[in-house]
Amino acid sequence: MYIEELHSAVGKTVTLKGWVSNKREGKGIVFIVLRDGSGYCQCVVTEETAGTAGLENAQGLSLESSVELTGLVIEDEKQIGGYELQVSGVIPVGESENYPISKKEHGVEFLMDQRHLWLRSTRQWAIMRIRNRIIYSIHQYFQEQGFVQMDAPIFTGNACEGTSTLFETDFYGEPAYLSQSGQLYGEAMAMAMGRIYTFGPTFRAEKSKTRRHLSEFWMIEPEMAFYDIFQNMDCIEGMLHAIIKDVLAHCAQELKTIGRDFSVLESSLTSFPRLTYDEAVRIIKGEQDVNGKNGIGSLEEELRRVQLRLEEVNAEIADRETKIASGGMKKGEINFFQTKIDALKQEKADLEEDSRNIPQWIRSAREFEYGNDFGGSDETVITRLFDSPIMVYDWPHAVKAFYLKRNPDFPDFARGVDVLAPEGYGEIVGGGERETNVELLKAKITEHDLPMEAFEWYLDLRRFGAVPHSGFGLGLERMVTWVCGLKHVRESIPFPRMYGRLKP
Ligand code: 4AD
Ligand code: MG
Repeated sequence: MYIEELHSAVGKTVTLKGWVSNKREGKGIVFIVLRDGSGYCQCVVTEETAGTAGLENAQGLSLESSVELTGLVIEDEKQIGGYELQVSGVIPVGESENYPISKKEHGVEFLMDQRHLWLRSTRQWAIMRIRNRIIYSIHQYFQEQGFVQMDAPIFTGNACEGTSTLFETDFYGEPAYLSQSGQLYGEAMAMAMGRIYTFGPTFRAEKSKTRRHLSEFWMIEPEMAFYDIFQNMDCIEGMLHAIIKDVLAHCAQELKTIGRDFSVLESSLTSFPRLTYDEAVRIIKGEQDVNGKNGIGSLEEELRRVQLRLEEVNAEIADRETKIASGGMKKGEINFFQTKIDALKQEKADLEEDSRNIPQWIRSAREFEYGNDFGGSDETVITRLFDSPIMVYDWPHAVKAFYLKRNPDFPDFARGVDVLAPEGYGEIVGGGERETNVELLKAKITEHDLPMEAFEWYLDLRRFGAVPHSGFGLGLERMVTWVCGLKHVRESIPFPRMYGRLKP
């Protein structure tokens, strides 16, 4: 039986198979928190119920050893998961000596090196289950709407999103590139099937360490014939609402486990503000307020709050350390103080990071040059002012991809749309309406210095029954990161690949 099925087994004797995620011992009693992947359950072993051999077996279990536990299922709200197992049989399965990850705080680099084991810890387990639900709901959303899923090739002969982030490989002696995006192939398929979506791995050589960039990530790219940019935005919003609703309905426990504040997800179920690039720039530069809040003003206020809190935290750490050093405290009291100090030090590190970042954000917002693409800090500045994602559209043609359609009324602008997630998260979706004019496309391909012959097949889509069409790409890991409220995208994928990280 799986732990998540225990509700159907109250009063019955069942066998659970799993791993020891925690163990406490008293005189003649062992409390095991068992995890089996589907959930967690406290299992109580006493001599009375399990016999001498059972108790001894339980006493011999170490952290992350595997075991089969048989016992009576009792309903108990106070326990994790709501049930408890009164154990009558203990069969150890696999030993686990000196498990490297303990309850104490480990550094991120250490945990990343131990990723193959770190995945077992409660927080990572919850994140991976939310990721799974997001994947499920994306397929469900598009399938129910009548979209056809397609697989785009991974080996490609042409760049889609600029040549600077291509991974080159050898394809039988010819250079080939790992796909940066399935979009161009998706466009071809949309002309065959009407509405399609890809769901596959994409690769970008991003030679810098940021909290938003992976070298290998999963992208969902729908492409729709006869959709203009506004229908495209409706589609993006429909998909994001469906995902958020689904996660709230099915992953409440997981969200609680990782301490995610639900309110932002709930407030994201309304329609997303749609801003033109021009409006967004005015907001970033502090020339336009959002609901009475000024971007730069509220950052300056936050910086003052951070600095005040930092002083308080420093004083409290010093105070508690002096008290421990002066002696005369009981062991329990010292432990309590030390735990508090560790938590304060963590808060201090976060505050120090904020006090380094915020002045940079303020500076780059003030200095933002009209006509540029948004950088990470610009996205942070604007999205902190909203409590739902926003859509920014009609970007300067010069800074966006070659395939975007020009706004017929304002040809300097391209009909691209980016969705920026709130709370400083920034871009999760990029997309737009596609150019259908062969001559305009050719000019762009030349301007971007791309090899024309590699795009002949793509131009054919415009030569034979061209129609207005649009699409977008959702970065799965960016979505998981925002939904879970993670600090860094690396925790959103089982085995992240990014600059400086290829193992395990
Ligand atoms: O904005 P991007 O580059 O757009 C495209 O690739 C288009 N071809 C999509 C389309 O219109 N069909 O990437 C789309 C999304 C971004 O918004 C972001 O969420 C994610 O992919 N993304 C990354 N995620 C993690 N690491 C990276 N290095 C990423 N680069 C893009
Ligand atoms: Mg983009």
